[in-house]
Order: sequence, then structure tokens, then C-alpha cells
Amino acid sequence: MTNSLYGSTDGGLSFGGGATGDASVRAQPAIRSAPTQASGRAGMRNPNRKDGECELAGQGLNRTHLPTGAARRTTTDKTNAGRGILAKDPRSNGSLGIAISEAVEDAATHDDTKYSLGSVLNHVCMHQTVIGLEAQEQMKLAGEYPDVVIACHGGGSNFSGIALPFVRDKMNGRKVRLVAAEPSSCPSLTKGVYAFDYGHTVGMTPIVKMHTLGHDFMPPGIHAGGLRYDGAAPLVSRLLHDGLIEAVAYPQRACFEAAVTFSRSEGIIPAPESSHAIKAAVDEAKKADAEGKSRVILFNLSGHGHFDLGAYDQYFAGKLEDFEYPREAVERSMANLPRVEV
Ligand SMILES: Cc1ncc(COP(=O)(O)O)c(C=O)c1O
Repeated sequence: MTNSLYGSTDGGLSFGGGATGDASVRAQPAIRSAPTQASGRAGMRNPNRKDGECELAGQGLNRTHLPTGAARRTTTDKTNAGRGILAKDPRSNGSLGIAISEAVEDAATHDDTKYSLGSVLNHVCMHQTVIGLEAQEQMKLAGEYPDVVIACHGGGSNFSGIALPFVRDKMNGRKVRLVAAEPSSCPSLTKGVYAFDYGHTVGMTPIVKMHTLGHDFMPPGIHAGGLRYDGAAPLVSRLLHDGLIEAVAYPQRACFEAAVTFSRSEGIIPAPESSHAIKAAVDEAKKADAEGKSRVILFNLSGHGHFDLGAYDQYFAGKLEDFEYPREAVERSMANLPRVEV
């Protein structure tokens, strides 16, 4: 299964991984869905939850299942965290930060429940580096080394997965650029402040230093559900702070446009999250063309979009809207950061 593609920009953009086969990296669907598995037992042993009921709070993982009743995406009234948020905003459609808050509370109040984070924390980032290590081996087989490595960024594990092994190369003197692509509606890396904050909305988890829009950030309902998060992993944040990696932000319509271009040339429908990496790869390729340079671009196609076809329908119907998160809103949220003496 092709997950990561590299394209050489000789004579225009080509998505090469699918064609060569050698440079592809296997997808990790189980890891990608981890934030929504946060309640651990998926409702099976909780007496308050009906058999088979599974809450997808805030994540846009499986919209097709939502109308069937097999899953719900919402802020629930089953936790103090959820009830508090609904008291302030009865129409809250959830966010990753809210989902984490509810899941942590659920796990903390049930003996039979364990909670495991899917992104953001450094050990999760390190765990994912198998993607980059494998990509390095496959690039070797293809006789190439990337000039640019790109991945989309929500909480940071996906980007870290492919980029961190190349960061090591870079620290050892190799020339390589590492680019994290995020939505301009949730721009934690490009507009967030490098400060101590909670990893989720209600503030129960440890405080970490990260690029943050503020834990009270409420993201707009864009279609890249997995990127609707207010913070960034401490490792990614530090690398950005130290200038070892770069970040770019894109509005969702431009990302869908790039995803459709990719799909038409590769026959793979990408997840809306992954479309941000594709948009960055397309831009890098066009820039190289404009400069008359040849450039090897490696990017991580983190998931397929088969459960997000409704989003593509909306894109083709011209119903998608772009949203630029305002800097003033970030400044307002900074007043609510926890005070940390260092
Ligand atoms: C398909 C896909 N790609 C990327 C991401 C972003 O992952 P991360 O939080 O590791 O940045 C997600 C998040 O759920 C996702 O579903």
C-alpha cells in the first residue's frame, strides 16, 4: 500500500512513489485513529453505554458511519468536561481537545478503562519514527535522498514519524528541509505561541511547553478533523523554535484542489488531513520548476479519504469555506495559559 510518495520535479510534477513501488511506505491506520480510541474499551464494558456504541468526539474519522447510528461525533453530556462545555455552548460539535478531556475523565473514573494518547506526546512521536526510518531505506533503494520532507501536522506524531529520522541527518550535517503542513484555521505552528499549556481543553493532563493557540481554542468545523487541535508536540515545537524544521498553513479549499490533482494522477483518494501535505508538495514542486531546479520531494500520505467522500462532495458542490484563524483570538487565549515558573 502506498503511503509516502516521492516526486522528482524534473520536467514538472510527478508523483513517483506509486509508480516505482520501492519508495512507498506502509500506512499505519491503527495508529492514526488512536485519539478516537481514547475511551479505550469502545463502550463495551461501560454499563452506561449501549453495546457497540462508540463516541467519535470531534474527530472526522468516519463520517459515513455517523448517520447509521453506529457512531456519534459530539461533545457528550456523560462527563463533567462535556457537560461544562455544553453549558457554555449547547451546539458544541466537539474538538480533539474536548475529546481528550472527556476520554481522560472517563478513564480516570472507571477502573476498567485505560487511556492511551494518539499524538502530541513525545513518546508517541518517537514510536511513529518507524515511518521515516523505513522511508530512508526505501529512498536508498530508489537511489535518492530527499531535498524536502513534508507531512501534515495535527498534534505532531504524523509529521514526527517521517521527519525525525531526517532531523538526525540534518543535525549531522546533511542538507534537507523538513516542512510541517497545517490548516490555516488551526495554525498552532505558524501562529501559536511557544509557551507552557495543557494538552487539552479542560486541563487535566500534564502541562507541556509547546506551540499553542491556547487550550480553550475552539477550531472551526473543517474537514481535516484530525488536524483540529490547538497544540503541537513538545519535540516538534522545540525543533521549530530552534529553526530545524519549517511550518506552512493552508486553507482547506486549496488542499482539496491539490488532493483532486493527486487523485487524478495516482488513483488514490487522500484523507483531507493528508491533502495538506499534498498541497505543500505541489507548491514545492512548482517552486522548483519556477527556479529551474530539480528537487526530490518526499511526503507522507497519512491516510485514505474513503470515509470522507462527503467532504469531497461538498468541495465539488462549492460548499466548502476557508477560515483564517485570527491572531487576536490567539492573543486572547494567551491570557488563560497556566502560570508556570521556570
Ligand atoms: C489521516 C490523518 N493524517 C494525519 C493526522 C494528524 O496526525 P497528528 O496528530 O499525528 O499530527 C490525522 C489525525 O487524526 C489523520 O487522521
